[in-house]
Amino acid sequence: MTAAESDAIRVIEAEAIPARFARGWHCLGPAEKFSDGRPHTVNAFGQKLVVFRGANGNLNVLDAYCRHMGGDLSQGTVKGDEIACPFHDWRWGGDGRCKKIPYSRRVPLRARTAAWPTLLQDELLFVWNDPEGNPPPADVTIPRIEGVTSDEWTDWLWTETVVHTNCREVIDNVVDMAHFFYIHHSFPTYFKNIFEGHTATQIMKGKTRPDIARPDAEGNTMLGNTSVATYHGPAFMVDELTYHYQGFDLESVLINSHYPIDEHSFSLHSGIIVRRSEQLKGPAAEVTARKLSGFIQRGFEQDIAVWRTKTRIDNPLLCEEDGPVYQLRRWYEQFYTDAAEVTPEMTGRFEYEIDTTRPVEAWTRETEENLARRAAEGQPA
Ligand code: FES
Ligand SMILES: [Fe+2]
Repeated sequence: MTAAESDAIRVIEAEAIPARFARGWHCLGPAEKFSDGRPHTVNAFGQKLVVFRGANGNLNVLDAYCRHMGGDLSQGTVKGDEIACPFHDWRWGGDGRCKKIPYSRRVPLRARTAAWPTLLQDELLFVWNDPEGNPPPADVTIPRIEGVTSDEWTDWLWTETVVHTNCREVIDNVVDMAHFFYIHHSFPTYFKNIFEGHTATQIMKGKTRPDIARPDAEGNTMLGNTSVATYHGPAFMVDELTYHYQGFDLESVLINSHYPIDEHSFSLHSGIIVRRSEQLKGPAAEVTARKLSGFIQRGFEQDIAVWRTKTRIDNPLLCEEDGPVYQLRRWYEQFYTDAAEVTPEMTGRFEYEIDTTRPVEAWTRETEENLARRAAEGQPA
């Protein structure tokens, strides 16, 4: 690099956000929420959708706007297996076809609206979004979460929050080790990413920060955690998250998922289940799940506070101890590319482990200084 080059001011680049939404399965939340026989409005993929369960038990997702005169089906009524428009009572089936117009002899040709493929799995409702209109390929699946159907685990505790930024920001977290220390007050000691096909994994081990640690109400001190978190497609992450306590482990499965509302906002969800154990009997497991859910909500709020004021950046300036942001974004690009145009660079296996020697040294020093300062000020450690 010449002197002139190293003197040049780095310019932040950001292209216009594409008005295209990712191809893939997106979770809308617990299926129960949509199963009351009423239509539900969901704003997703830059559109208004109607979600309803017909008498046949199927959960359906259609474009909310009626092809007759533009009525809002999500304000309509479920009649049998169909959704009836509130404007003139045209009946739309889960396959997107108009089945009946009570006041008319015939249903016109081309009386078909957009219907999204759905998947009901582990008590969650998923919709398949594909701008090219193709059905989900057989190998693009969401894994089963065994604990959900087992009495050994607690039931889903689900949260959702609207975030006013583009959803690429949440994806960037997959490789961003350092922000876990500065934003989430955790202390990563091991950090590795693996991208392959439509999955992106983050393996992280962390220890409890000595300047933040507090024994919980039961007097247990958390030592650290091990997290294996995988995105299956563009928007659904399953995190096998184990918290290590003195003498025992607490196992949980955390879901971190979202769907885009439009290119400037998304609905961010968390779900958690906890395994019952010797240390976590009866209602104690539910209490712990609630505590963890609150903890995760606060984590989201910490991210959201950053997203609220930061700018979009296509060319982040990285140091050696940062994760592979560019490779992650290349992986993420596959979901915004026509299926036939997806390149091996987007889906090929890629592994990268951050050398944490220097971060661990720096963070050890920083936490010790925090403790020393507090001691000097006469505050409890
Ligand atoms: S607009 Fe829906 S039935 Fe007329
Ligand atoms: Fe984060």
